[in-house]
Parts: sequence; structure tokens; C-alpha cells
Amino acid sequence: MARGFFLTLEGGEGAGKSTNLRFVQSCLEAAGKPVLMTREPGGTALGEALRAVLLDANQSPVDPLAELLMMFAARAQHVEDVIKPALAEGYWVVCDRFTDATYAYQGGGRGLPRDTIATLETMVQGDLRPDLTILLDLPVAVGMQRAGARDAAPDRIEQESQDFFERVRAAYRERAQQFPQRYCVVDASQDLPAVQSGIRAALETVMAKRS
Ligand SMILES: Nc1ncnc2c1ncn2[C@@H]1O[C@H](COP(=O)(O)OP(=O)(O)OP(=O)(O)O)[C@@H](O)[C@H]1O
Ligand SMILES: [Mg+2]
Repeated sequence: MARGFFLTLEGGEGAGKSTNLRFVQSCLEAAGKPVLMTREPGGTALGEALRAVLLDANQSPVDPLAELLMMFAARAQHVEDVIKPALAEGYWVVCDRFTDATYAYQGGGRGLPRDTIATLETMVQGDLRPDLTILLDLPVAVGMQRAGARDAAPDRIEQESQDFFERVRAAYRERAQQFPQRYCVVDASQDLPAVQSGIRAALETVMAKRS
């Protein structure tokens, strides 16, 4: 069967990734596409175990390089066990965060060299890159307010400073400028119907190209 389609959703804390993931799923399924939903870090038993370590708010300070390697360890398992096989079977794989998040958080946020991330990206993914990345972009304060309105206590990453999240946002926007053909940037500060009409337009464009 033809190779499927690899779609990732990116954005800072509270941007609406999880909310809109379900919307993406329903749009694709309504168009008759076979869809596989997954997330990072996670997506496999090993990945979810690493996610628990990475997000544990009680974890003693985690060295940035150790954090980066755990992200890619989870990703290696996810790519080999889930993403590549699903794409080979023709699935539309929809992933809540992927390597662009690593460039944003471990690169922009933590300040790790982009070259180091790029080396690991090639090692783990070969030439696998998303076909479409929807970046939900919004001011840090708005995202924090939305995330804060949820009940859960802040995880280890959510406890970072405002400056950290400003660097994350800037790094995401830089990635979008660097790869304009792959990225669709949606103004996520809008109300949900407006955000979703932007997402729907992006999906219709890629589905038209694929059909
Ligand atoms: N466009 C919107 N307008 C107002 N509220 C929204 C909008 N989109 C999402 N929300 C709400 O904001 C909160 C955060 O959304 P969501 O959990 O989808 O974000 P997320 O990007 O997955 O966050 P995280 O990075 O923490 O996983 C939720 O309570 C959601 O209902
Ligand atoms: Mg989420």
C-alpha cells in the first residue's frame, strides 16, 4: 500500500494540541482516512515509562543532555515500533508533539546546540520527517492561563519560568520560518471554532494533494 501521511501537532503549554488532536482525527476519519493517533514523549510502553520520568515534578534536577537523550530514546522506540509500520501500511499518523518540540524545548528552552539535536534526529529517524506540522502559536501567558485552568498539578516542564517558555515559542516560530512548506501556523489565541477552521483548511489542502 502507498505510504501514509505523517502529521504532527506542536505548540507550547496549553496551546490546544490535545483538544485539536481529536478534531484532526474526526476530520480525517470523516474523509475516510485510516488514522493512528499517538503522542510524544510516549506512544509505546517504553516511551510512556520515559514520559513519566521526564514529567515527574518530584524528579531531582535532570541534566539537559540526559533529558534530550531520554526524549530520543523514547522516540527511537516510537519510530520503529509504531510510526514507520503505520506509515508503511498507509495510515495517517497524527502525533501530539514530535522532534520540533525537541528543537523548541531542549534547543530553545534549555539552550542545547541545534547541531546536537540534528545529529540525534538523523540517527533516530533517518530521513523520516513530518509531512505536515500544525503549529498552534499563542502568547505564553494565554497558554499558561489555559493550562492552569485544568485541574492537574503542573508537571516538571510546566514548572519552568516565563523566559523558558518565551524561548520555546521563539524556537517554534523560527522552525516554522525555516520549513514553510511543511509548517502551517495557526493563531491559537483565537476561539476554538476559528482555530479549527484554520486546521480544517490545512487538512483539506493536504488531502486534496494526496487524492
Ligand atoms: N481556542 C481555545 N480557546 C479557549 N480555550 C481553549 C482553546 N483551545 C483549547 N482550550 C482549552 O485550553 C486548555 C488547554 O488545552 P489542551 O489541553 O488541548 O492544550 P495542550 O496544548 O494539549 O497543552 P499541554 O501542552 O499541556 O499538553 C483546555 O482546557 C482546553 O479546553
Ligand atoms: Mg496536551
